[in-house]
Amino acid sequence: MLLKISSSVAGSITLTLAIAALPNCVSASPQSEQPYGAISLPDRTLLINADGTFNHNKAVVCNAATALKYRRNLMNLQGNSGGSLPAGMKLIDIPLRTQIQVRGQHDESLTDENDDSEWAGMITIGRPGQKFLVDFDTGSSDLWVPSSLCNSTACSSKHKYNASSSSTSQNETGTFSIQYGDGSTVSGSIYSDTVTFAGVKVQRQRFSAVTNLSSSFASDPVDGVLGLGFPSISILKADPVFVSAAQQNAITTKAFSFYLAKNNSELYLGGTNPKLYNDPIEYHPVDKSNGFWQVKNASITVGGQTVFSDFDTIIDSGTTIMYGPPDMVKDIYSKVEGAEVFDSSEGFYSFPCDKVPEISFSWGGENFAISSENFNLGTTSPNASTCAGALAAKDLGLGNTTLLLGDSWMKNAYHVFSLEETAVDCAKK
Ligand SMILES: *[C@@H]1O[C@H](CO)[C@@H](O)[C@H](O)[C@H]1NC(C)=O
Ligand SMILES: *[C@@H]1O[C@H](CO)[C@@H](O)[C@H](O)[C@H]1NC(C)=O
Ligand SMILES: *[C@@H]1O[C@H](CO)[C@@H](O)[C@H](O)[C@H]1NC(C)=O
Ligand SMILES: *[C@@H]1O[C@H](CO)[C@@H](O)[C@H](O)[C@H]1NC(C)=O
Ligand SMILES: *[C@@H]1O[C@H](CO)[C@@H](O)[C@H](O)[C@H]1NC(C)=O
Ligand SMILES: *[C@@H]1O[C@H](CO)[C@@H](O)[C@H](O)[C@H]1NC(C)=O
Ligand SMILES: *[C@@H]1O[C@H](CO)[C@@H](O)[C@H](O)[C@H]1NC(C)=O
Ligand SMILES: *[C@@H]1O[C@H](CO)[C@@H](O)[C@H](O)[C@H]1NC(C)=O
Repeated sequence: MLLKISSSVAGSITLTLAIAALPNCVSASPQSEQPYGAISLPDRTLLINADGTFNHNKAVVCNAATALKYRRNLMNLQGNSGGSLPAGMKLIDIPLRTQIQVRGQHDESLTDENDDSEWAGMITIGRPGQKFLVDFDTGSSDLWVPSSLCNSTACSSKHKYNASSSSTSQNETGTFSIQYGDGSTVSGSIYSDTVTFAGVKVQRQRFSAVTNLSSSFASDPVDGVLGLGFPSISILKADPVFVSAAQQNAITTKAFSFYLAKNNSELYLGGTNPKLYNDPIEYHPVDKSNGFWQVKNASITVGGQTVFSDFDTIIDSGTTIMYGPPDMVKDIYSKVEGAEVFDSSEGFYSFPCDKVPEISFSWGGENFAISSENFNLGTTSPNASTCAGALAAKDLGLGNTTLLLGDSWMKNAYHVFSLEETAVDCAKK
């Protein structure tokens, strides 16, 4: 049963957030009744080292990556909307020195075998199809993969797009450039070509084949990124792959769904995988005008007590933890027994490990709890009795009442991002 809470917000296009309960186990039987398929996503852990300690270095890299990502998103939004940003949003300066320090730490973590920052899966580009492993990112809106013209050593281990061996490749004007969290730049030419993923074929998709990839990408198993956000934050000023698929009627149900978990994670295209959630599904309006899957009217409780209500949330599969404006996050942790600032410059708080806070979100309906496993990022030092929390204080320029919810949130629910009903569906675990 679907419960529609609200379907429109004055002056904005709306999305809905559908929330349903997940069963305890996942069936692997084929979904023959479904027109499109699932892409399985690799297992993934959070920012916890093998010894149970918080991986602080990696978390610092994630923070910088997120800050740069949202600075870039806001610059794109500004550029795509005539030079101004929506009220409350602003570009946050990120000192180059921070980026260089972070870069050193990133290099150090290159031996880490667990990749914590991406939910990746296979796509093909061109005719005949050339295969790529991409990160599916609801918090950005462009597609890029390495180019066969890339001479960077980081490209040597990657799948590379060769335009001249695709009969459907077209050159497009302009160049593409993105700066990453370690200060590195990814840049290249722009093409359009056929993109297929999980049986969905999109024609004349604009994307970049990058010719410059910094060494920090060398150990990353992923070739590139497939953005699942909205056009207003596209650097390429192009419709993102899923929007193109919907416009070309390449899918009958214009929705994709994320099941993110320790095991059996999947991205499902063309609707929902009913094996992975239970009704009822709960819908909430989202404003897509800023380019994000932005759900309004959220409230947050700590230990059952509401701390804030009527704030915005952005659901981002390409962000590892959760971030909020420093004042809001401070107030939230002030309701957590024993919580303390653990790293003030990075915005991390700690709490007693034997008392993981019970934090939940709601969007006017059910309360959705964050499991202790998803909130606890590990001990602050070996054998410490305090643990780091997956909600960090950081001004990302998104306004003082917007929380960015990454995987630490998404793992608690089944999410269906629907263009059709304009919906993101989440399922309780
Ligand atoms: C790209 O493909 C063309 C045609 O198949 C081939 O001649 C060329 O060597 C390829 N380039 C690279 C860099 O692999
Ligand atoms: C794209 O540009 C390259 C280099 O300028 C050229 O060699 C190639 O023929 C062009 N391809 C198409 C499909 O126009
Ligand atoms: C590649 O990017 C690096 C910075 O990451 C820059 O120093 C270098 O000049 C770039 N190379 C090209 C060919 O654009
Ligand atoms: C890579 O090297 C080849 C051969 O030296 C050259 O033709 C090509 O322009 C180089 N690519 C870039 C992006 O610099
Ligand atoms: C999930 O993966 C872990 C480690 O790979 C394994 O021990 C566990 O049995 C798996 N759980 C399920 C439900 O498959
Ligand atoms: C917003 O959330 C509150 C609960 O915090 C709820 O009472 C109200 O109905 C919600 N409004 C909408 C438009 O969903
Ligand atoms: C942590 O505890 C374990 C087992 O109690 C002990 O072997 C180890 O030496 C301790 N490590 C530190 C850094 O105190
Ligand atoms: C957000 O900023 C506005 C304007 O500066 C202010 O009126 C409001 O109280 C702030 N809200 C929070 C939660 O800090």
